[in-house]
Amino acid sequence: MAVGIFDSGLGGLTVFDKINLSLPDLPLVYFADSAHAPYGVRDADDIYDLTTSAVSQLWNQGCDLILLACNTASAAALRRMQENFIPSNKRVLGVFVPLIEALTERNWGDNSPPREVAVKNVALFATPATIASRAFQRELAFRAIGVDVEAQSCGGIVDAIEEGDLILAEALVRSHVSALLRKMPKPQSAILGCTHYPLLENIFQEALGADVTVSSQANLVADSLSDYLSRHPNMYGVGEVSKFFTTGQAQNVSERATQFLRRKIIFEAL
Ligand code: DGL
Repeated sequence: MAVGIFDSGLGGLTVFDKINLSLPDLPLVYFADSAHAPYGVRDADDIYDLTTSAVSQLWNQGCDLILLACNTASAAALRRMQENFIPSNKRVLGVFVPLIEALTERNWGDNSPPREVAVKNVALFATPATIASRAFQRELAFRAIGVDVEAQSCGGIVDAIEEGDLILAEALVRSHVSALLRKMPKPQSAILGCTHYPLLENIFQEALGADVTVSSQANLVADSLSDYLSRHPNMYGVGEVSKFFTTGQAQNVSERATQFLRRKIIFEAL
């Protein structure tokens, strides 16, 4: 048993990296569904089918606790999975909850009426499927009032990162940021609502300007997982080493992962 981390591709490595820093002894099994990435251009049923298949494979690897390190899967599939797919002895967590908790300055289970929070103008960058789900805006509206969210659907960035074309990825980031700034010229805060985007966080920051606070979802998720495990120690893994699996070409995926994390990462084909 180990903790499973799932993403459509390489983006979840940004979360893996922070978890690995804060919990270095925790064995992790990373699953990249590279053969089917990007998820962000698929419809909700397709994302549900792919995500449940990946989660089943992580269960087969002995992971009782799985983190969907993918906003698209968290937004489009997690609620439905919680309703009818996850058995009572397993847990699947998403990446939205810690982000919403941080922005709304309250715990997820706090059902008190929505109230004013510090942040007023939020720029949300995410995949087309995440934006279409409106999951982020819905969860925010349950908890906070007076927050203006401008969403930018960022087609193409995930594909470019998965293909290792960082020049194209950078150009797309700049173009999506300027489209957002035309709609909301002065955001206070920007949310990189796709786990691939922190790989280009410096480009987002540069294009947005130094006054905009760019939220790091990976840190928030790592802290939240650590807190969860301290409250549910039975979910800790007993495996000894972390493993990486992909449905894509293991060698290509390993090379890109090594390039992004700046240390040797070896994926096995599943
Ligand atoms: N890293 C995924 C996310 O956080 C990317 C989704 C995709 O494959 O388009 O949304």
